[in-house]
Amino acid sequence: MKLPILIHPDPRLKKNCAPVPDLSDSLRTLADNMLETMYDAPGIGLAAPQIGQLTRLFVLDCVKEEGEAARPLIMFNPEIVASSDETNVYEEGCLSIPEQYAEVTRPKVVDARWIDRDGNEQTETFDGLWATCFQHELDHLNGKLFIDHIGAMRRQMITRRMQKLKREQARA
Ligand code: NI
Repeated sequence: MKLPILIHPDPRLKKNCAPVPDLSDSLRTLADNMLETMYDAPGIGLAAPQIGQLTRLFVLDCVKEEGEAARPLIMFNPEIVASSDETNVYEEGCLSIPEQYAEVTRPKVVDARWIDRDGNEQTETFDGLWATCFQHELDHLNGKLFIDHIGAMRRQMITRRMQKLKREQARA
């Protein structure tokens, strides 16, 4: 089932999300629906607060190569265990900030830990786009958006555009 995605500015995108105490079928269904919503958008990551659930959960799949197998990942209670001093710059976007992009600098490599769909702890070292996406989604769980990493002028300009978009959507 596809879920509606919240558009910035929205107070729910500013909240610190609560850890998942125990996996349940309803949380698994939520995660499956988030993957469907993400692929449909299309996007490479989607965090629970973006669909109004203030829970530490996100999904991602950064496979971009045509013909390469999809790699849908569901992450409950994700954390960064270590991150590199070396940084990377990516032009980031966000499904909650449609059609707006900005360069963001983040650590190039992160050692990540999370609980998977089956309740098992997973660890993996992510590099490049996967590392950026993981950090972008983790930010969402802490009430932070990619525009919080850029200058205030640019951020305000993007926020005004989104306010205008939401007014137009409300009228439609
Ligand atoms: Ni995002």
